[in-house]
Amino acid sequence: MQTRKYSPKLIVHGGAWNIPAAYHAAHLAGVRAAVEQTYPHLLDGGSALDAVEMAVQILESDPTFDAGRGAFLNAIGEVELDAIIMDGRSLDFGAVAALQNILHPVSVARKVMELTEHNLLVGAGALDFARQAGFPELLPEALLTERELEFFQQIKGNPGFRTHHPFKEGPGDTVGAVAMDKDGNLAVATSTGGTARKLPGRVGDCPIVGAGAYADNELGAVSATGWGESIMKVLLSKTVCDTFAEQQAMAAARKGIEILARKVNGLGGVIGINTAGEYAWAHNTPYMAMAYWQVDGVVQASIRNNG
Ligand code: GLY
Repeated sequence: MQTRKYSPKLIVHGGAWNIPAAYHAAHLAGVRAAVEQTYPHLLDGGSALDAVEMAVQILESDPTFDAGRGAFLNAIGEVELDAIIMDGRSLDFGAVAALQNILHPVSVARKVMELTEHNLLVGAGALDFARQAGFPELLPEALLTERELEFFQQIKGNPGFRTHHPFKEGPGDTVGAVAMDKDGNLAVATSTGGTARKLPGRVGDCPIVGAGAYADNELGAVSATGWGESIMKVLLSKTVCDTFAEQQAMAAARKGIEILARKVNGLGGVIGINTAGEYAWAHNTPYMAMAYWQVDGVVQASIRNNG
């Protein structure tokens, strides 16, 4: 029997927030590089699951983004990372939260999915698992950048920073990737350092299935970014995936953001791919850094301005 072959798709984001003009070039270059370096793997017949892990690893390594190296510091000046990866074929997912001293939480999340009977590991237990799985444990300074240290000094006396719409005033640079491979399989990965000045142990939407990410071959796949406390309340990624069944891809993404804003006064963005391989994106923050592979082979990268 001849199986249908799909034209592979890949879309990534580098966060939805009020990205200052001085950071635009680095954001555009970062999301473009993630697509350009990952897409050939999909063209060669690689899996969507490998592609989203690869793209997110590239973004985690880039100090521009609040994920892996370059992540925000929490209220006591430490980096705690969250990540999730989900396979649309089986609905299997793995996630980690409040993980320290590891550059690629997305890959630890994948190992949680593949090597354990669990879905989500947190804190010291997640770090212990990562060590046993062979991930190099870094010194805390290895994930720290000069920019984040300066930012931490600037905001550490500002109690409002973590409590009210941090994404209006300050950064929220989660990264994410959604892919469809030649077999039509969908996958998603999302990774973040969370919000600046968060309480130690705070976990946002990113590693919560249906909130920071969702993938189901029968619905579509979505990665979310933005103010985690609001995104969790409406399970934004699952909401958009469910809406793919009823509306065109872009309309479904806009609907998800409309629900986020109307029901919980939330701020954020989504990227996704529906089962027909159509891209979707929407955000209600001033900017969202994103890039995708167009059918004509051109990589489209943008920091969309909602005006
Ligand atoms: N969306 C990332 C966070 O709130 O942690």
